[in-house]
Amino acid sequence: MRRGSILALLGIGLVAGGVAAAVAILPTWLPEPASREAGRIFFVFWFTIVICIVIFSLVAAVMIYSIFKFRVRPDDHEDGPPIHGHTGLEITWTLIPFVLVTSIAIVSAIVLSRNDAQAQDTLRVNVTAQQFLWTFSYPDAKNVTSPVLRLPEDRSVELYIRSEDVIHSFWVPQFSQKEDTVPGLVTQLHITPDRLGTFPVVCTELCGLGHALMRSQAIVMTPAAFEKWLHQQEKGSAGSSTTTGSSATNGSSASAAGLAVFKNNNCASCHTLSAANATGTIGPDLDKLASYAQQAHQPLAAFIHQSIVDPNAYIQSGYPKDLMPTNFGQSLTKTQLNALVGFLVQSSQQSKKG
Ligand code: CUA
Repeated sequence: MRRGSILALLGIGLVAGGVAAAVAILPTWLPEPASREAGRIFFVFWFTIVICIVIFSLVAAVMIYSIFKFRVRPDDHEDGPPIHGHTGLEITWTLIPFVLVTSIAIVSAIVLSRNDAQAQDTLRVNVTAQQFLWTFSYPDAKNVTSPVLRLPEDRSVELYIRSEDVIHSFWVPQFSQKEDTVPGLVTQLHITPDRLGTFPVVCTELCGLGHALMRSQAIVMTPAAFEKWLHQQEKGSAGSSTTTGSSATNGSSASAAGLAVFKNNNCASCHTLSAANATGTIGPDLDKLASYAQQAHQPLAAFIHQSIVDPNAYIQSGYPKDLMPTNFGQSLTKTQLNALVGFLVQSSQQSKKG
């Protein structure tokens, strides 16, 4: 082979490789990882991408070079020279892909097994998916449930994921792992968060009308802040079971508490309520609660209370049955429930006036 040909091949290969590398590196394709597992997964990803870029440059160089160098003249209608194969070449182009694919398999297997390895003090979190919200509970703490996933930094966490209804899929892009939720099964996902911050929890399985809005947040906190939060929640839930609800009587603080309950439980993903800047359209429009209560021939507060704890008792016409989760009666504390009812009563009285 002439020196000129080798230089040409090398030149084309370098240009093709440079373009491919720029496409891989310059746009931000991947989020910044926030867990050790994500770091490993992204390593496998880049390991594979580098191999792809090298193979792409090689193929592009040979192809582009051949197109120009071995092009036939327009009037040449002869068959090409017969070729009977080249054993050395065939062994080479079988062996190289074999080695590369096997190395990807080995690296992936190592990453998978390390990603699943739990540490001794693994924190257990139960994740419940339902149309169209996420609930997180901490079985090691007393009855702590939360609409957002709070995790301590640098601690091994095992999620036990259940579904109340259909198949959903748990995904935090910065953790890089996805796990389906399957009715009747408990699926597991191991995470070791290693960066503080707030990251989106996304449902990535089409699960019904509210799929696109089935979102929550994963908040990675310092271990001290996490423990503090957990203890506060434990105290809070112990306190609320003994207090009898008499909230929603004094104006703004009660309505702020109700608004917080509304936001924390993702009501906005299905309902419109101007007092909460909510624009969901899957469930009834909560700005019209007063007229709905009239249609149902019930006093407003009692109607709202019933609609939250026993949503199928009265179905507003035009909306499907069995869409509203039926477990808010259990998941909300009495204080939270009263705050929410008070807030909705107040906001519908205001929207009636306005
Ligand atoms: Cu749940 Cu999509």
